[in-house]
Amino acid sequence: MRTSGVPETDVRRRIATDMADDVPWNRVLNSICTEPHPLGVEMAAAAAHTNLGDVRIFRGTKRIERKVVQLLLDLLGHPGGGSGSLVSGGTEANLIAMLVARETARARGTLTDRPEVVVSSTVHFSFTKVFGLLGLTPVVVPVDDDLRLPAAEVARRIGEHTVAVVATAGSSEFGVVDAVDEIGPVVRGRNVHLHVDAATGGFIIPFARELGHDLPQFDFSVDGVDSITIDPHKYGLANVPAGAILFRGAQDAGRFAVDSFFVDTPVHNTLLGTRPGSAAISTYAVLEHLGRDGFCSLTRTNFEVTAHLVAGLRAAGHELAAEPQLNIVVVKMEHAVRISQLLESWGWIVSTSKRFGETLRLVVTRHVTREMVDEFLPVLERARREVAAEAALR
Ligand SMILES: Cc1ncc(COP(=O)(O)O)c(C=O)c1O
Repeated sequence: MRTSGVPETDVRRRIATDMADDVPWNRVLNSICTEPHPLGVEMAAAAAHTNLGDVRIFRGTKRIERKVVQLLLDLLGHPGGGSGSLVSGGTEANLIAMLVARETARARGTLTDRPEVVVSSTVHFSFTKVFGLLGLTPVVVPVDDDLRLPAAEVARRIGEHTVAVVATAGSSEFGVVDAVDEIGPVVRGRNVHLHVDAATGGFIIPFARELGHDLPQFDFSVDGVDSITIDPHKYGLANVPAGAILFRGAQDAGRFAVDSFFVDTPVHNTLLGTRPGSAAISTYAVLEHLGRDGFCSLTRTNFEVTAHLVAGLRAAGHELAAEPQLNIVVVKMEHAVRISQLLESWGWIVSTSKRFGETLRLVVTRHVTREMVDEFLPVLERARREVAAEAALR
């Protein structure tokens, strides 16, 4: 650290210089997080000083966190019941869900010396961190032809060591929604915790279903679902870092409870101690302001833009790796990695899969417009032609 500080104007200039290097949203096609809603940004700035780690001081902010949890439980089919916490994102939410699953098994007396969790081969990599931290062993079930976790196979893989099954509602790579409505019945009654990772799909599927999209029920309306991860900082348009873990059981969020040293300070139910109240405030502002109608309208636009992108890709002769269920489009493409690198050198960010051969993954969310798609498609074709010509010379 420098001995004497620099004037504010210099600090501002230096920060602005580095931040100017960040890629503008209108060139971003790989990110599930998006430009947050302006009201969320404004309210988060107003709450930048708040800390939900000290709820005696920030009791008003804590009240807002509780309201957000109730709003999310209501959105996900459990109005007036359940429990939950706002957390830093999908990873922490999944961690708390698995911890609660393990502790529930312990309380039931069914925890063995080798606790297992049944997951699909496309489960998010956050679970790799979680399983390592919690000493859980994944039992990996290959996805079916539709890239979904097959319920019959889940039923077969549940055994004496199983503490949890994880279904995904909106996979990171493909936006695929597992048939939670089929998985719920096979898990129910087997003393196993069913967690749904809806970090990506939680703010899409309820509204898409309202708009008539053929998507399965994935929330607490499915018997047997015990917990759900949903991320306001993805399709919920709140500021990073805003995730949420929700439980069907009114006491379940409290199963992960760590006491502090101090009298009158409540236990912590989250991994983070000091944590930003601004995330709760931002989420609350966006949920209240947009309401169901606002989210339905955003969802409709996202699907229209997705359809426009798919039509453009098909018109250019591309084949999709899977029919998109949500707003993630995966295109088969020779030399995908090289194309992605070339696009990045031209300022466009897309993603490529390490696991699904030569594919390009494009994510449509709030900042992706029809105009942006129309700008992108010719650039993609130019990149594809240049890389093909490069490859022909080799
Ligand atoms: C399905 C799913 N689960 C979990 C996560 C992890 O969320 P985070 O990066 O907020 O920790 C993601 C992130 O994209 C995701 O798509």
